Amino acid sequence: MRRPARKADGKTDLKAERDKRAEKDMFEKEIAEKIAGASVLDAEEIRAALEVPKDGRMGDLALPCFKFAGKLRKAPAAIAAELSAALDGLNVIGKKEIVGGYLNLFFDREAVVGKLAELSSWDGVATRGEREGAGKTVCIDYSSVNIAKPFHIGHLSTTVIGGALYRIFGYLGYTVVGINHLGDWGTQFGKLIVAVRSWSTLDEVRGKDEYFLNSLYVRYHKEAETHPEMDDEARAWFKRIEDGDPEANEYFDVFREVTMRAVEKIYKRLKIRFDSYAGESFYNDKMQPCLDILREKGLLTESDGAQVVRLDDYDMPPCLLVKADGATLYATRDIAAAYYRKQTYDFYKCLYVVAYQQNLHFKQLFKVLELMDFAGAKDMEHIAFGMVSLEDGAMSTRGGRVVWLAEVLDKAVEKAYNIVNEKNPDLADKDKIAESVGVGAVVFSALWNNRIKDIVFSFDKVLNFDGETAPYVQYTHARCVSALRKGGAYNIAEADWSAVASNEGYEVAKCLLSFEDVVRTAARLREPCHVTRYTVELAEKFNRFYIGHRIVVEDKGVMNARLFLTDCVEKTLRVALRLVGIDAPDCM
Ligand code: ARG
Repeated sequence: MRRPARKADGKTDLKAERDKRAEKDMFEKEIAEKIAGASVLDAEEIRAALEVPKDGRMGDLALPCFKFAGKLRKAPAAIAAELSAALDGLNVIGKKEIVGGYLNLFFDREAVVGKLAELSSWDGVATRGEREGAGKTVCIDYSSVNIAKPFHIGHLSTTVIGGALYRIFGYLGYTVVGINHLGDWGTQFGKLIVAVRSWSTLDEVRGKDEYFLNSLYVRYHKEAETHPEMDDEARAWFKRIEDGDPEANEYFDVFREVTMRAVEKIYKRLKIRFDSYAGESFYNDKMQPCLDILREKGLLTESDGAQVVRLDDYDMPPCLLVKADGATLYATRDIAAAYYRKQTYDFYKCLYVVAYQQNLHFKQLFKVLELMDFAGAKDMEHIAFGMVSLEDGAMSTRGGRVVWLAEVLDKAVEKAYNIVNEKNPDLADKDKIAESVGVGAVVFSALWNNRIKDIVFSFDKVLNFDGETAPYVQYTHARCVSALRKGGAYNIAEADWSAVASNEGYEVAKCLLSFEDVVRTAARLREPCHVTRYTVELAEKFNRFYIGHRIVVEDKGVMNARLFLTDCVEKTLRVALRLVGIDAPDCM
């Protein structure tokens, strides 16, 4: 195993690590096979030995030949000379050097760039090589909003991280099931019924939006402080929902309808989709078999009339599953949901994209499932993330100042409109572009860091066209489109690859070739930030190239090569942005 590159602060530098891996990946196979064909060594051991030198002057790849001294019974320098000869004629190698038992290999830059052209499916849509996800299903539980509550900024991360993972796994060939585990169960619905009956009517609620519903809920909490009898009434109404009482359920259906109408609008803007909306209430009739298993296995203990699973042996508080009054809980429903998902989808992994505040819940849930010998227990994962707050203060649902997501999106779009309008007043479709840029900026900022980091949101920062932002990447993409439009059709069979083999061109080509690996890394670590960071890196590299090299020039061979490189960048940026749910407008 090569050691990951370390930064000065001691953290692993994933970018440097990835660059190296991409470089190694590029020609490793051909080199290893060529050497294996001419020696007694086998390709796998050569691949394992090949390394990327820290110092670029030592080559792009190096083979430490002393590793084979035992097997070949020769001095490392002699081995290096022999293996070097085996590589004669391999056109991807520009230069070879033997230094102190190492065989140092330098790639031929034109061959690297030419390699791009070989990747016939460079539409970025179909993945190259083997599709790691074939035959495997990943369930992703994300967004999972609560009925009767407006979409606030606290739901942004779960929605966009889940949405990005959904597309990233899909890109790698997995079958993905997006699940919105709706919070559609609990005593709060009884409270809301009391509130509607006291200060509004069902018809009025039906015609209004989710904010109105929320205002009733807020008023309820205020009044219930001095009128505790309201809570008894609320409990009675909730019981009626549970018992299937038609009047109570009519209220509930309206709450759901109003909420879903609002939420769908947001999902549309964020390009989020689900395959299932089976929420908590869906499991009403699916918990008993799970409780039976728990009882059979002797895992249920009574505690003050309630049923719990004791987890002392695992340093956790007990997991409460049935209250003394017979009511089931969030955890009970999650156990039933796990069984249902395994049975329905036979998942390979089941991911829960939920804030770190629920760490304990998921630790308990997974432990209980394991104790139940649930078949999918080891494949459950909590994909935790940090908090989002605005520059001017944190938010919370109860009490504190709540920031609604729709307001944040609208404000970002308005600001984006002003910027776009100032930069390019004659642009057609400004509203549409402002929507792509404004929403994209918000989404991108929520996906920029490792999930677990708390985010402080700033409009100016996320909309900075020269920052590490969506608008910067979108702008670069539009620049590619414009160059391609000016250049017209090109022909790679008549490309002069030396026209893109400068340092800048070579950096772009290597970055393009590492895209697949970036997506795989993002999936493996469940970290969409690998994709967002990649888009900025590629945009920066392309811009450096663009400044130093005219794309549209007289010389056809030169132009063919540069247009091709630009085209690859355009497609890759578009696909990468799509993976994280962001539009790539053609002009800005
Ligand atoms: N509705 C919950 C909340 O907003 C999140 C549900 C997450 N999914 C789950 N299966 N527990 O906090």
